[in-house]
Amino acid sequence: MNNPALPRAVIFDLDGVVVDTAHLHFIAWQRLAQRIGIDIDMAFNEQLKGISRRDSLAKILAYGGMDNAFTADEREVMAEQKNREYVGLLNGLTTADILPGIRELLRTLREQGVLTGLASVSQNAGHVLSVLGLQADFDYVADTRHIMFSKPDPEIFLAVCDALKVLPSCAVGIEDAQAGIDALCAGGIFAIGIGSTLRGAQYRLDDTAGLTWAAITQQWKRHQAGN
Ligand code: BG6
Ligand code: MG
Repeated sequence: MNNPALPRAVIFDLDGVVVDTAHLHFIAWQRLAQRIGIDIDMAFNEQLKGISRRDSLAKILAYGGMDNAFTADEREVMAEQKNREYVGLLNGLTTADILPGIRELLRTLREQGVLTGLASVSQNAGHVLSVLGLQADFDYVADTRHIMFSKPDPEIFLAVCDALKVLPSCAVGIEDAQAGIDALCAGGIFAIGIGSTLRGAQYRLDDTAGLTWAAITQQWKRHQAGN
């Protein structure tokens, strides 16, 4: 099937796209890593974006040469500690942390009749949306209980397309993580990247401020025309 003249759905990542929480995940991981003698920095953190809690911990332990230093139960405890730290940091979250342009974009998508989905692997996604009062802005929010694989596997994006009854080729996905861009590309979804270091996106912006429906449709049409 040919792609439609305009996208039928826009699928958002949460942390680092809708809301400025990506750095809170980093702070929480950094504190946990420090306690076991592993130093992680912002550059390393790029590898953790979009990755589930358990997989993130595995990456940190591998980075510190501690792959086999902890039992499965100890890892569970560490992941839980990181989450407590993160949820504590979320106490300071307000609507002022919604990233620039996102509210306006969500409003325009509603007006234009474009479906909206959320594809976050975060188990805190529901809580964050409710704190921000954004639940009603999404037609479908991925249920992490039914997602087996972290990004870069496309599973979560394809599950959202399925729930919205939209073909992947008719959807746009917005991501701040390389794993997320890779997942979108693997799923055949038009990928918009937010961040200067991302590779492989059909359209890339440094931040969300320029993320308007006009810009998205312009890039979509350019892509359809093969430019
Ligand atoms: C993603 C974040 O959205 O959610 C990752 O980019 C995070 O950094 C992942 O690890 C899982 O989040 P949570 O809240 O379930 O630990
Ligand atoms: Mg993200």
